[in-house]
Amino acid sequence: MRNPRKALIVALQVIHAGELAAALAYQGHARAVSSVQTQLAIQQVECEEWQHRKMLASMLADLGAAPCPRRERSKRRLGSVLSFLCGWVGEWLPARIAGALERRGAVEYRRASALADAAGEHDKVQPLLEYATVEDAHGLYFEELALSLGCAFRRHRRSGAASPLR
Ligand SMILES: [Fe+2]
Ligand SMILES: [Fe+2]
Repeated sequence: MRNPRKALIVALQVIHAGELAAALAYQGHARAVSSVQTQLAIQQVECEEWQHRKMLASMLADLGAAPCPRRERSKRRLGSVLSFLCGWVGEWLPARIAGALERRGAVEYRRASALADAAGEHDKVQPLLEYATVEDAHGLYFEELALSLGCAFRRHRRSGAASPLR
């Protein structure tokens, strides 16, 4: 790795923009679910993504950098599209996709933590690992949600009842 500090800045910019897409997508996701309990859980996840963005922005400022406007615009568009689609594709697919994206987010945070270590930014190593753990918890939540929705759907199909997902 030629310039770990530069690589760290880019990694933080990528994750910061990704958190925007996630937070916006969860707004539509929360609106689309039928269970109030699930809605509250998704809103809690959204809230944690906004907190992550705040911390990432402060890390970037500490490095003399800022979020990347181009990446922010692109992820804002993506988040808005995903948010809209959540109202049309049922409940299982958004949960399945969210689970996969959260796991990928955890990997990105761990990579950023390693870059912080390589760049000598030791105060950022542990917080980034902690955010990775939070993303893994988000991933697990959505994986279990998708699993339970899939099971409920199969049960209703076997019983010949209407879909429980809408
Ligand atoms: Fe996050
Ligand atoms: Fe997350």
